Amino acid sequence: MDLILIQSQEHETLPLAELKSVLETEKIFSEIEVITNGLIHLKNLKQDDYINSYRILARRLGYTHEILEMITFRDLDDLNSQSNEDIENLFNNIFEEFKAIKWNDYIDHDFVIRLKRFNNAPIDTIGLERKLGGIIKLITKSNVNLNNPNSFIKLIVSKDKLFLTIKRFKIDKKHFMEVKPHKRPFFYPGSMHPKLARGMVNLSKVKEGDLVLDPFCGTGGILIEAGLIGAKLIGSDINWKMKNGTGINLEHYGINDYKLYQLDVREMKLIDRVDAVVTDPPYGISSSTGGEESESMFYQFLDSIAKNIKKDGIITIASPDSINLDKILNELNFKLIERHEIKMHKSLTRVISVISKKN
Ligand SMILES: C[S@@+](CC[C@H](N)C(=O)[O-])C[C@H]1O[C@@H](n2cnc3c(N)ncnc32)[C@H](O)[C@@H]1O
Repeated sequence: MDLILIQSQEHETLPLAELKSVLETEKIFSEIEVITNGLIHLKNLKQDDYINSYRILARRLGYTHEILEMITFRDLDDLNSQSNEDIENLFNNIFEEFKAIKWNDYIDHDFVIRLKRFNNAPIDTIGLERKLGGIIKLITKSNVNLNNPNSFIKLIVSKDKLFLTIKRFKIDKKHFMEVKPHKRPFFYPGSMHPKLARGMVNLSKVKEGDLVLDPFCGTGGILIEAGLIGAKLIGSDINWKMKNGTGINLEHYGINDYKLYQLDVREMKLIDRVDAVVTDPPYGISSSTGGEESESMFYQFLDSIAKNIKKDGIITIASPDSINLDKILNELNFKLIERHEIKMHKSLTRVISVISKKN
């Protein structure tokens, strides 16, 4: 079985890195082909646990917008170098072949067809949706339902590939798109966007039941994402208001397997070592002593974390690009697994580093 993923194009490396990390964490074996930025083909998923894998990906991924089951695909000659007439003939032929598909196995009562283009493929989106819709309607005697269809068929066309797909499970986009940090019961400026927080949790290879620590928990943005995928949580913050606010926010999401502390990360001595640390430390970039002060803060924080995380635990942290993190990692015997840079504005690039202890 094959899946087609439509990913966010807001960042070049994060969506794919998040996907690879979740596949590895959840032991989902599949070959990945990147068709173009934002379009991924996952090949040969095992039939036995295919539905389960589909569900897990839909539940976990922050930077993937849609996951679709592939019905069939075609390689195309580059559409951008073909005439309109040739393209029309090409699609007529393909749709003719599609008549052989057992549509009754896919369509349940009513359906909709949507077409998504990549690479500015020069095609008539609405015309093709209608044409294929007409064919399916005739074969299955089902109705088109634009608003709430039982069966959602999606045709995806890049410059040289066509995928015919069906959506089996929806991704809860509302969580990542609408429920912004300021809509939570406890809000404080500086909260991380839920999508990035989820991405960071996924990069730390967090599994259900793992113990995850955020020692700069703020309003709990990262802990919420870890909690929603079934992790046990430890949060702490030097500020008691933040510690309490995190509790309110976690409860708001129905998350209750957590422990919260008010403490300075440099004095942290946990009873149980954690499986992963995911955190967004304060940058302190606005203070006059700037870089140096923050660098010593990052050093002390990572030194303390080293004593509270398991030997093979993964730490994912955000830092400003003004900090020389590699020097600190070297001194403290950590190794860098991967790194992603996010340009926030002219003077701030956020660096997401995934690290672990050297053996
Ligand atoms: C950038 S915010 C974290 C934001 C969080 N990711 C969120 O989504 O709300 C950093 C937090 O670190 C806390 N903090 C600063 N210095 C600290 C220290 N030495 N130990 C623990 N927490 C500290 C601050 O109170 C602040 O809440």
